[in-house]
Amino acid sequence: MPTALIILAAGQGTRMQSDRPKVLHEVAGAPLIAHAIAAGAALAPDRMVIVAGHGADAVRAAALEIDPDVAVVVQHEQLGTAHAVAQARAALDGVTGDAIVLYGDTPFIRPETLAAMAEARARHAVVVLGFEPADPGRYGRLVMAGDALDRIVEFKDATPEEQAIGLCNSGVIAADCALLFELIDAVGNDNAAGEYYLTDIVGLARARGLSAGVVVCDEAETLGVNSRTDLARAEAAFQSRARTEALENGVTLIAPETVFFAHDTAIGRDALIEPNVIFGPGVTVESGAHIRAFSHLEGCHVSRGTVVGPFARLRPGAELSEDVRVGNFVEVKNALVAEGAKINHLSYIGDATVGAKANIGAGTVTCNYDGVFKHHTEIGAHAFIGSDTMLVAPVRIGEGAMTASGSVITSNVPDGALALGRARQDNKPGLAAKLFERLRAEKARRKGN
Ligand code: UD1
Ligand code: CA
Repeated sequence: MPTALIILAAGQGTRMQSDRPKVLHEVAGAPLIAHAIAAGAALAPDRMVIVAGHGADAVRAAALEIDPDVAVVVQHEQLGTAHAVAQARAALDGVTGDAIVLYGDTPFIRPETLAAMAEARARHAVVVLGFEPADPGRYGRLVMAGDALDRIVEFKDATPEEQAIGLCNSGVIAADCALLFELIDAVGNDNAAGEYYLTDIVGLARARGLSAGVVVCDEAETLGVNSRTDLARAEAAFQSRARTEALENGVTLIAPETVFFAHDTAIGRDALIEPNVIFGPGVTVESGAHIRAFSHLEGCHVSRGTVVGPFARLRPGAELSEDVRVGNFVEVKNALVAEGAKINHLSYIGDATVGAKANIGAGTVTCNYDGVFKHHTEIGAHAFIGSDTMLVAPVRIGEGAMTASGSVITSNVPDGALALGRARQDNKPGLAAKLFERLRAEKARRKGN
């Protein structure tokens, strides 16, 4: 297995037409670079180096957030892929063993493919990941000599015969770390692009009597993102795979093409997902839960037997225990909702704990934010919150307590107590009829004028 992973991410990504560095554009709710890091991390390398350039500060910050152990080096001028790899040399000082070079804008390389390359290293000094695209376009071509790889030729530098080759270079290369840097030292830039090509190391290795080999993968794995169209295509490819996987794992999707998953969505078997549900990052849905149509979930956990939606929004920190009901137009954020509690209509529950079997009436709001600080609301087990209650946090509603509809609750309610926090009702007999009479008379007078 490789000890070092080098991820190239210095390119500008001009065709993205973006102020954001290309590798920070997202697929399935995670930046492209996170996908590359995840594929590499699955091989548990000792050291991971990211070569940043355009937007290096933003790329560094994002990379460190994903994995605090990565090293980020900066390639100030983009002089080519070999020059980019050379920037990783100092960060890999003292590292012995294999290195694998990946691109930060190629999110779908599978760990199994990288493992196959590591394994092929037993037979070859340099191993290249190749693929046979439907349209070979301008990819670098792999020139074979029997079963071995003779050299890689960039499209721009290729003869018509070489351009006719269908086997292409994905860009992923594996070699012994020390050898990789030695070969890179010998790479020049006398070519059509005037760049230092990493691909030249194959020819250089062969000239030294070393062997090079190819591992072939599916075209889908090497899908690179260079434009917004590619980004949309990558998203579609991810979603299509995620839907198939969910179905194969025993999740019911009534209209799979309308459900969108994040890179880390985890759904148990026999969960039922209705149409038009969107999963942001960090969601787990247990077996047998039911997510109804048009719900949006992120950073939350939904337990077995719980029903969410239709039209519900679960935000980060929403923890729903078993047999909970969260109904239409309900938003839950950073709140623990205990077993059997019901929040069925038109409510906001944020920074709160809701006790077991509590019933939250329609239109209830936890007023958690005072404009500066966030405050906590605690609702006891079996409490009954009347419709349209404003719970002004910090506040605690006791176990089995009740609030009257329309209350504004600003102080704690003891266990078992009923809190009325609203103006007392005052009936004026006959006054409505009198008022109507006066208004209608006024309307008639205006028409007459
Ligand atoms: C490269 C390969 C080509 C292959 C193709 C696959 C070379 C010379 N060519 O071509 O054989 O078929 O990828 O997609 O390697 N980068 C840097 N610094 C640089 C230059 C590039 O970090 O100075 C990064 C880019 O951000 C990108 C990756 O390396 O992630 C590939 O660079 P790019 O310019 O897109 O290479 P291609 O010309 O597409
Ligand atoms: Ca490219």
